[in-house]
Amino acid sequence: MNFATKTIHAGQPSEPETGSLIAPIFQTSTYEQDAPGQDKGFNYSRTNNPTRQRLETVLAELEGVQYAALFASGLAAENAVLQAYLRPGDEIVIPTDVYGGTYRILNKVYAPIGVTIKQLDIANRAALQAAITDRTKLVWIESPTNPRLLVYDIVDICRLAHAKSALVVVDNTFATPYFQQPFELGADIVVHSVTKYLGGHSDTIQGAALAKEASVFEPIKFLQNATGAVPSPFDCWLTLRGLKTLELRMQRHEENAIAIANSLKGHPLVRQVYFPGLPEHPGHEIAKKQMTGFGGMVSFELEGTIEEVVAFCSSRRYFTLGESLGGVKALLCHPATMTHASIPAETRAELGLSDTLIRLSPGCENAKDLVEDLLEGLTLLDHQRRTQKVAAASAH
Ligand SMILES: Cc1ncc(COP(=O)(O)O)c(C=O)c1O
Repeated sequence: MNFATKTIHAGQPSEPETGSLIAPIFQTSTYEQDAPGQDKGFNYSRTNNPTRQRLETVLAELEGVQYAALFASGLAAENAVLQAYLRPGDEIVIPTDVYGGTYRILNKVYAPIGVTIKQLDIANRAALQAAITDRTKLVWIESPTNPRLLVYDIVDICRLAHAKSALVVVDNTFATPYFQQPFELGADIVVHSVTKYLGGHSDTIQGAALAKEASVFEPIKFLQNATGAVPSPFDCWLTLRGLKTLELRMQRHEENAIAIANSLKGHPLVRQVYFPGLPEHPGHEIAKKQMTGFGGMVSFELEGTIEEVVAFCSSRRYFTLGESLGGVKALLCHPATMTHASIPAETRAELGLSDTLIRLSPGCENAKDLVEDLLEGLTLLDHQRRTQKVAAASAH
């Protein structure tokens, strides 16, 4: 079955009792049993639910494995993996560029219980090799990363981690299984903020953790039920609906991202554009090797002040200023004050996360409209600067 067919058919037969083409939302907390302990495969909706099971089946198929567990958010999925694999005294290696919430849970929840977090530029192979020790339980990466869209060589990272018996977790939220298959590249665990492209419509919060091996998955699955951060049947149904157009949406997101990256590149008010599809992007060759496309996100640094960044972000017509990404409606965000505000300013500076970085999540709108919206913002900024210059000159 090819990818688009899987998104529509895998785990989603018509409902057997009525023939309903789209299965109903099994909005129930519990299930009638034939005799004590004899159920029809479901006994309580924290443990399992038919709507959730459908979504877990299709996500597993899309990532090319057997095991998927859904959670009430991406961070709940991350927490299940961290809780399953980290004990006091253990180490985890993470890259410099990592989602702010991942940084926060590690530093505020796991560091205080004695887990060592090693954050480094994992593109530096020698530094990465030295950082992975016998105490390293997890090497946790995103690729492309949030927010600078850096790309890491997943095959090589897996080789280094496995040499020390560490598991590799890939947060595949930005690429989605449409553009990248981390398990084929050697990953042991994949996590998703399902909230983003998989849901695709900015109307649900969910997460997923998937594994290739039953033994790796078992402790995560146990925590899904034992700690209980599960999504509602309605949320799962929304994602089942959204997922059916994943291929179409990802193609459009990427087309829009390419058009935007090319229009921003070389603009005098743009210091740098981050998009793995640009040949000058440092991860371009790796992306070509390990992805089937470059994704739908673009970030750029404005050549300007924080005030100008704020003015630009707050005044776009089609790019709504807001947290999150991956929906059909375009969003933009200012990582330093929004998604990555939980990283202290000094640390952000050390990590190279500029305060003038703007992250764009082009939706499925028309590319021309999105490009015009951004260029209009830059023209406005340029105009304001000129007006201020004239006003300052005439005041002297
Ligand atoms: C790359 C990445 N991973 C994980 C998360 C967390 O997901 P959620 O917001 O669904 O908890 C996010 C959220 O922005 C993200 O961007």
